[in-house]
Amino acid sequence: MYKTLNYEKKENIGLLTINRPQKLNAISNELIKELKQLLDEVENDDELRVLVVTGAGDKAFVAGADINELVDRDARLGRKVSRERQEIFSRIENLFVPVIAAVNGYALGGGLELALACSIRVCSEKAQFGAPEVKLGIIPGDGGTQRLPRLVGVGRAMEMILTGDFIDAQEAYRIGLVNKVLPHQELMEKAMELAKKIASRPPLAVKYAKEAVNRSQEGDTASGFALESYLHALTCTTEDKKEGVAAFLEKRKGRFKGK
Ligand code: COA
Repeated sequence: MYKTLNYEKKENIGLLTINRPQKLNAISNELIKELKQLLDEVENDDELRVLVVTGAGDKAFVAGADINELVDRDARLGRKVSRERQEIFSRIENLFVPVIAAVNGYALGGGLELALACSIRVCSEKAQFGAPEVKLGIIPGDGGTQRLPRLVGVGRAMEMILTGDFIDAQEAYRIGLVNKVLPHQELMEKAMELAKKIASRPPLAVKYAKEAVNRSQEGDTASGFALESYLHALTCTTEDKKEGVAAFLEKRKGRFKGK
C-alpha cells in the first residue's frame, strides 16, 4: 500500500519501517505524505498499544532529508517544509501510545529528529547519530534544535548541531540520547520485548503517563504538576486501576482492559 514505508501489526504492536534503503531511508516529500496517511490510520487504531519505528536495511535508520530535494528549497519552501515536518513529528511525539525508535544504523538530520520525537530510543552498536545540516549551510528544521538540548543538555546539543559531527552508539548512550545499545542482530528482538512489556501494562495508565511526562518538556512546572494531578485522578477512576491494585494485594497477575 505504501511505497516508502512498511507497516505491519503483531498483535497490538505496530512496526513502522522507513523503507527507502537504496537512499539510506532519506526523508522525501513522498515519504512525508505517506507518513501522514499512516498516522491518520494509526491514530484511529484503538487496539494499538505501542509503535516501534525502524529503518529498512542494515545500514541506516534514516539518513536525513532527501538532499536532492534540498536543491530547490528556497525560504518559502524551507518554512513550509519545516512547519510540516515539525507538525508530523509532533504527532508522533504526542501519539496516544508510546513510540520506540529502534535505531539500526545512521540517524542523521531528520532521522535524528524523528528518533527524538519518539518516546524511547534503543540502538544497534552500529548506529551513528548526527545533525549534519550545518555542513549543508542550513540548520535543523524538524524540531532538532528544541528536542536535542532537552534530552542531552544544551552543551552537547550545541556541539552536535554546530559541528555536524557524528557520534557513535556508545557516546549516544553515555550522553543519554539512547536508553540501550544492543548487538545489531538483537536490536529488533529486544525492541519488541520492550514494546511487549509496555503493551502489557494498563493502557490508560500508559497513555496518561506518557502525556504527563511529555508535558514536563514544555511550559512551567506548576502547570505540569496540575496536569499530572488531573491525569492521575483520571487513572484512579478506571477499571484497570481497581484490577491493578486488587491483583497486587491478591498476589496475582493483573488482567487489564484499557477501561
Ligand atoms: N539524501 C539523499 N540521498 C542520500 C542521503 C540523503 N540524506 N543519504 C544517503 N543518500 C544516498 C547516497 O546519495 C547514495 O545514493 P547513490 O547510491 O544513488 O549514490 C546512497 O544513499 C548510499 O549512500 P552513500 O553516501 O553512498 O553511503 P556511505 O556509506 O558512503 O555514506 C553517509 C553514508 C550517511 C555518511 C552519507 O550517505 C551521508 O553523509 N549522507 C547525508 C547525510 C546528511 O547530510 N543528512 C542530513 C540532510 S539535511
